[in-house]
Amino acid sequence: MQGIVVIKCGGSTMDQLPDSFFQAIAGLQAQGQEIVIVHGGGPAINNMLDRVQITPQFVDGLRVTCEDTLRVVEMVLCGSINKALVKRLTQAGAKAWGVSGIDGQTLLATKTPRPLGWVGEIKKADTTIPKAILGQGYVPVIAPLSVSEDGAETFNVNADVAAGAIAAALSAEKLIMVTDVPGIMQPQPDGTKAVVPATSAEEIQEMIQTEVITGGMIPKVQAALDALGQGVEQVVICRGTAEDLLGVCAGQAVGTTVRMNVNYVQRGGK
Ligand SMILES: Nc1ncnc2c1ncn2[C@@H]1O[C@H](COP(=O)(O)OP(=O)(O)OP(=O)(O)O)[C@@H](O)[C@H]1O
Ligand SMILES: [Mg+2]
Repeated sequence: MQGIVVIKCGGSTMDQLPDSFFQAIAGLQAQGQEIVIVHGGGPAINNMLDRVQITPQFVDGLRVTCEDTLRVVEMVLCGSINKALVKRLTQAGAKAWGVSGIDGQTLLATKTPRPLGWVGEIKKADTTIPKAILGQGYVPVIAPLSVSEDGAETFNVNADVAAGAIAAALSAEKLIMVTDVPGIMQPQPDGTKAVVPATSAEEIQEMIQTEVITGGMIPKVQAALDALGQGVEQVVICRGTAEDLLGVCAGQAVGTTVRMNVNYVQRGGK
C-alpha cells in the first residue's frame, strides 16, 4: 500500500484497544506506511463532565457543547486522551507525535449555526503539520478540536467529521473508522444482527430513515460519505483489533466498507 492511511480511533473503544492493535500500527510504520490517527473521546469526556456535574447532551449523535463543556472537552481530548494514545503507541514501538486541530490551524472552523453551542464547522483542513510530522517519521495523533481563523476561538468537532476532513485533505488512500462495533449492524429476519459488509449512500439514507443507524453512527456514516466525495479512496468502519486493522490494510473484506453508490459496488469498484 502506498497512500496515507487515516485511522479514526473512537473514544468508545479507546479503553479496550489491545496492545496488539498498537503493535500492528508500529509494524505498518516500520514498513514505511504513513499513518495518521484522529481520535475521539466520548466516554472519557462524559466521565469528566459527570465529575464536574455537567449533564452531556446530544442531538442526532452530536454533542451539544456549552462553554463549560468546551473546557472539559479541550482538557480531555488534547490532554489525557491524546497523551494516553501517544504513550501506548510509543510502548508498542511506534513513533508518535500528539497535536490537536488547533495547532498550526490544522482544523480551521467557524461556529456552526446549528443549536449545538461551541461546535465548529470545518472550513479547511490544513495538512502542513500532519505532513511535517509524517516527514519526520512520526504518526501524527490529532485531537479533534478546531480553531477560528483569527485564532481566538476554540470549537469542538465530532471526531469522525475531523477524521474525514483530514483524510480528504491528505487525499488518503484509506480512512479506517475504528469503533466499538464490528461495522454497521443490521437486524436479520431471525432477530439477530449482522454486519453489513458493504453499503452505499442510498442504503445509508434508508438505514437512517428506518432507524437502523442511530446515535453516533449517524455522523460516522455521513463523514464517511463526505470523505469519499472528496477523494478518499476507501472508508471502512471496523473494530479496534490488529486483525481488523491489518485485514483492511491488506485489502481484505473486514467490517463495513462504505461506498458512494450501489452501481459502483456492483461494478466491483473500490
Ligand atoms: N446500525 C448500527 N450499527 C452499529 N452501531 C450503531 C448503529 N446505529 C447506531 N450505532 C451506535 O453507534 C455507536 C458508535 O458510535 P459512537 O459515536 O458511540 O462511537 P465512536 O465514534 O467510536 O466514539 P467517539 O464518538 O467517542 O469517537 C455504536 O456503539 C452503536 O451504539
Ligand atoms: Mg462518535
